[in-house]
Parts: sequence; C-alpha cells; structure tokens
Amino acid sequence: MSVATVKIQDLGKDPQLGYHKYQFGGFKFERDMYFVRVTWPKGTQTIEVDRFLRAMVRDIGWGFFYGWIFFDDVFGTQNHYGTVDLFAGTYSKAHRDAGVDFLETFNSADVREAFETICKNWINEGYDPLRAPMETGSPLGPKTKEADGPLIRGFNPARRMMGLPGDTAPRSDSSGHPINRAFSDLTFDKPDIEAEPGFEDQVYAFNLYDHIARSDVTWNPSFTSITRACICCVTSEEHMLPVIHGNDRNEWFIQLTDEIHWNIQDKNTGSPRGRIVMKSGDVCAMPADIRHQGFSPRRSMLMVLENGTPGLQDRYAKGELEPFPITASRW
Ligand code: PHB
Ligand code: FE
Repeated sequence: MSVATVKIQDLGKDPQLGYHKYQFGGFKFERDMYFVRVTWPKGTQTIEVDRFLRAMVRDIGWGFFYGWIFFDDVFGTQNHYGTVDLFAGTYSKAHRDAGVDFLETFNSADVREAFETICKNWINEGYDPLRAPMETGSPLGPKTKEADGPLIRGFNPARRMMGLPGDTAPRSDSSGHPINRAFSDLTFDKPDIEAEPGFEDQVYAFNLYDHIARSDVTWNPSFTSITRACICCVTSEEHMLPVIHGNDRNEWFIQLTDEIHWNIQDKNTGSPRGRIVMKSGDVCAMPADIRHQGFSPRRSMLMVLENGTPGLQDRYAKGELEPFPITASRW
C-alpha cells in the first residue's frame, strides 16, 4: 500500500531558544528547553525532551521496527512495512473514549525524512541520545551547536563473519572501542581457532561478551546477524528502554548478564498485564499482543531474537496464529 507523499514543513524558528517548529501532516512538533509538544487537530501531548529524542532516533534507526513504537502512553508509530502510522491516543482508552485520538498514515520514507529533520535541528553537540544517560551530556536548554556525526546508528547487519576479511561492521571486536566501565570486572578469554590448512581465512571466532562489552550505545540492537528471517541482535542495556514496544509477532529475549525488569501492558489499552524480572541466563518470549518496556538498573547484556518473516504480522492480527509461541495445552 502506498499513500500520498507528505513533506515536513518548517514553521520557523523560535526567536528565543533557536529551535525550529515543524508541521508534518496533521501533527505539529515543537520543543522548548525541557519539553516537546506534539499537537494534532484535537489534542496536545507534552513529552520530556530527553525521552522524545531517545525514542525518535531509535525509531528512525530501527526502520520503525516490528509493530508499534510508543514514545510514551499516547504518541508513537506503527510500522506497516512501506507505510507508517503516526498516532496520538489511538491505543489509550481514555483518549479514544473522549474522542481526541488521531492517526495518520504516511510513506515510511516521508516519516524518516521528517524525523531526521527534527532530530538534526533539536540535538545539540555533546548530547547523544543513543548513549546511556550517564555517558552523555544533557539535551536541556536552548539551541547551541547542532551535533554532527552518526546521530542515528541503527541495525548494522554483519555482512561477513565478524573479524574475517570483508567484515564491514564498524564496531567489531577489532575496532578499538574500549570495554564499557560497567564490564571492567569481566575477563574475556579468546577462543582457540583451529582451521584446517587452506581454510585459515574462512574460519574465525570471537568472544561475544567481549564484543558486546565494547558497545558505545544502549538499548539499540545494533549488532545484528540475519539468517533468512532469523534476526539475532545482541545489545548492551542501561537505564530504561526509551520506547514502549508493541509487538506484532513474538520475540524472544535471552538475558546474558545482570538483570532487566520488564513491564508488560495490553497493547490496545495500556492496562498492566504483568511484570517480568529476567536474571542472567533467563529466557522469555514476549507475546504478539502486548507492549513492553525494560528497565536495566545496571548495564546488562541481552540477546533479542525476532522472526522477520514478511506477512507474519497479518497472520497474528487475523488470529490465525496464537499470540504465544507455546500454549500449555499442546505440551
Ligand atoms: C524490544 O523492544 O524488544 C527491545 C528494543 C531494544 C532493545 C532491546 C529490546 O535494545
Ligand atoms: Fe520488543
């Protein structure tokens, strides 16, 4: 499906603070020193600027991800893999009951361009929304100098076994990124590699913990291996997942170190459905009909597995597949 092209419009500069305001379809975006205001024909939502920017760079970097990305309980995006909905209050019962919810569908490329324009103008030098809050500057205050460099660092599929000739992953274990302060107590043994003669340049191994410990970003599944539809991301998590993710399919988590606390809510209403504390070694499946947000009190390592089979979201949406990967009665 495609929809009419919509371009983001610049509504001019705030004379005091220096940030630009924007209109994108029926949505207006403006920021001040502390907050972002998202306005639509029947309402306004105020979001802390840190939370908003951390959510927005991830939404762009992840290509709008699988299903829903909630910036907070009210505003977010839904990916239709070619088009993207921007919604406000659509998945909040109170907003729907009051008739102030709003949803508009755009081409993914137009949303990407709009979000990139906003982020570029609103992110100052010294603040990197992909880093843990304790490892970056503050986004608060008036506009200073625009940040440059890779503000948006999304999925980065390994095109070759990392470490072998042709490996383009910029943050492989040979990249020189230091071990993060939180993992300085770990020891990282190197694997023994015993290749048959003639295969020395085709066989390689590295210590995955060493690799993840060098990630300079957090809550960003940026190291990714993709084998057909099997998507495996390892991440380094500290503080909270800056978005609430609504699934359109199952996904699996394997807690590799430390712990993460997850809040699980009903996808359509936001009502609480459960809480999971995952400790090192725990495995869990997030069902296809929920939204979830993780909290990592210390920097931890997580493996996320997604099934990227095209059209899977429609089979779950129609009820053809059950929301759980395993149903107890089938055992
Ligand atoms: C998720 O929504 O499942 C998710 C997103 C980012 C992460 C980890 C998990 O870093
Ligand atoms: Fe998720």
